[in-house]
Amino acid sequence: MTTTVLKNDLILRAAKHEKLERPPVWMMRQAGRYLPEYQAIRSTMSFLELCKNPDKAAEVSIQPLEILGVDAIIMFSDILIPLEPMGADLSFDTGKPEFRTPIRTADQIDHLIVPKNIGERCSFVYETLDEIKKRVAGEVPVLGFAGAPWTLASYLIEGGVSKNFENIKKLMYSEPNAMHILLDKLTETIIDYLSVKIEHGADMLQLFDTWASVLSQKDYKDFALPYQQRIIASLKSRYPGTIITLYVNGVANVLDYMIDSGADVVSIDWRVNLREIREYVASYSDNATARKIAIQGNFDPCFLLGDKNFVERKTLEMLGEAGSAPGYIANLGHGILPMVPPENAKVFINTIKNFSCQNA
Ligand code: CP3
Repeated sequence: MTTTVLKNDLILRAAKHEKLERPPVWMMRQAGRYLPEYQAIRSTMSFLELCKNPDKAAEVSIQPLEILGVDAIIMFSDILIPLEPMGADLSFDTGKPEFRTPIRTADQIDHLIVPKNIGERCSFVYETLDEIKKRVAGEVPVLGFAGAPWTLASYLIEGGVSKNFENIKKLMYSEPNAMHILLDKLTETIIDYLSVKIEHGADMLQLFDTWASVLSQKDYKDFALPYQQRIIASLKSRYPGTIITLYVNGVANVLDYMIDSGADVVSIDWRVNLREIREYVASYSDNATARKIAIQGNFDPCFLLGDKNFVERKTLEMLGEAGSAPGYIANLGHGILPMVPPENAKVFINTIKNFSCQNA
């Protein structure tokens, strides 16, 4: 494990509820298509080739730091990458992820493997992380990430992006045991996958359970929560001090369960009121566990499509709702969209960087 002294560690201090002069800011999917500098590199190779090229993947990871001045770098990759060594045939040929042979039967689930040597099978991921750490030299923290089991299973079973999640739900309801076996294999793989990221110097981790919000509360409790809990608890016991964020797109009906996951930071979408959520988790933190929960979010990514004055006004509105209490990381409520003008992303970032918590 590498330990570099960080010049800007605002995000780590926000996650630990330290009092700060201003909130830290980064954007989900910040390394990506809205940046012409990303497009220039991407036009020379496919998305998967880029993910598997540590030199170029490191370069696009660092672009948002150089161009926008964000407070954290998220390493460029995708949540679906560790599914390839499990035996799934991943393709991005159409621009969207596709599994040519969706996993729909107990027999197919039996054939998926939990790779013993994820560090070697995904060596390009870890080489990218090494390369980013080397080039960034402690300027800002580097975030590692993974998909959570339910969301990964949804892509494997649906075969790609889904609207109604009917195939995964069909399997979940008709063969719950097979579903649990699949979630179990994904959980083991993700624990190892993230462990190696920590060993390669990831300063903080984010777990994406983007689509778990399509579950009823009971199903979330049975099929999403226990696996999130196992991943978070295992990593924290293997590597004490690890800071983990949990993201779900649509937290309104599952916020209590997200808190129960054991995550340090809960990343929320724009549909909920930031002020109410901050007050709610603050009162939670007063209970016997003494665990405090930080909140990340929750700018509607579509706000970035307005004019600059609008972006500034909505950003200040978000900061006002966040208030000055410790434990807040500014971010979007979901990934940045490809059509966002980079100038607008800059207004979002700069408005936060120029803000003083004393004014909140
Ligand atoms: O945040 C970052 O900048 C780091 C890189 C990152 C990507 N994907 C790059 C990417 C991260 C953290 C992800 C996470 C991811 N990938 C999630 C969870 C977060 C979320 O947004 O909900 C999910 C569900 C995926 C799966 C995925 N990857 C989809 C559905 C798609 C296609 C549609 C889309 O939104 O782009 C991708 C492709 C992808 N992943 C791109 C990028 C930059 C676009 C690929 C391209 O260059 O053409």
